[in-house]
Amino acid sequence: MMLKWLADMGADEALADAAIDRFTVTPEPFTLPQAVPATAPRPGVAPAEEVLRVPQRHAIEPAQRAVAAVPLSAGAVSAREAAARCNTLDELRAAVLAFDGCVLKQTAKHTVFADGNPDAPVMLIGEAPGRDEDLQGLPFVGRSGMLLDRMLAAIGLSRKDSAYITNVIFWRPPGNRPPTPEEAAICAPFLVRHIELKRPRVLLLLGGTPVRHVLNWEDGITRVRGRWGVYRKDTLEIPTLPTFHPAYLLRQPSAKKLAWQDLQSLREKLVESGAI
Ligand code: URA
Repeated sequence: MMLKWLADMGADEALADAAIDRFTVTPEPFTLPQAVPATAPRPGVAPAEEVLRVPQRHAIEPAQRAVAAVPLSAGAVSAREAAARCNTLDELRAAVLAFDGCVLKQTAKHTVFADGNPDAPVMLIGEAPGRDEDLQGLPFVGRSGMLLDRMLAAIGLSRKDSAYITNVIFWRPPGNRPPTPEEAAICAPFLVRHIELKRPRVLLLLGGTPVRHVLNWEDGITRVRGRWGVYRKDTLEIPTLPTFHPAYLLRQPSAKKLAWQDLQSLREKLVESGAI
């Protein structure tokens, strides 16, 4: 089972993509952008420590999405007030279940809050529940969820012990359409509080939607996957890695090779930080 998953991911040879001549190879340079003082990271730029650990092509974070250009809707204001009152994950779950400010709730069968271990080092964030998730009230339980479980197992993680899973949106959009910016803005205060209360060691973002709403990066997932960023909120700084959504990997199995690289990078970060 595991070997099949690794083979599907493209990890079927103990070789790099291209032959390496170890006699001529010089280490990839780790240079800081000139304008970044090592002790004072600018907003939108990874702190020096992060910059040093990643190759040069990853040194500058992608363009930030313009946010808060429109006034908050009534739903977003009441979500913000409700989220601010929560001091535990249980209180947040109860507040989201009681929240009526998002129209998606009217057509959904269940609120899908989270699954996994609340003390896990990794928090995974997807887009929105699909049909299976809506029926069961749990995130990632359909086909893409099964693939996600195999991906986690491939690096020794599981939702029972070491992963905690949620979505940007808590209710299934009808017909599995992508959530609108308004729907995302209404759920956003809960998502922000969710990350704050959960305080994971590392965030893994599944697909473009959480990349836009958690890191505020505007580039597409194909450009940003595998690039470590930092989620910042007040004093909280969490290393954050975008990767492909498992539903995309089901449609494009050739992308599993890149997803495998991302998973290995995630595992390295967890080991390096002593989280596992
Ligand atoms: N896709 C998601 O983004 N989230 C789920 O929970 C299921 C499928």
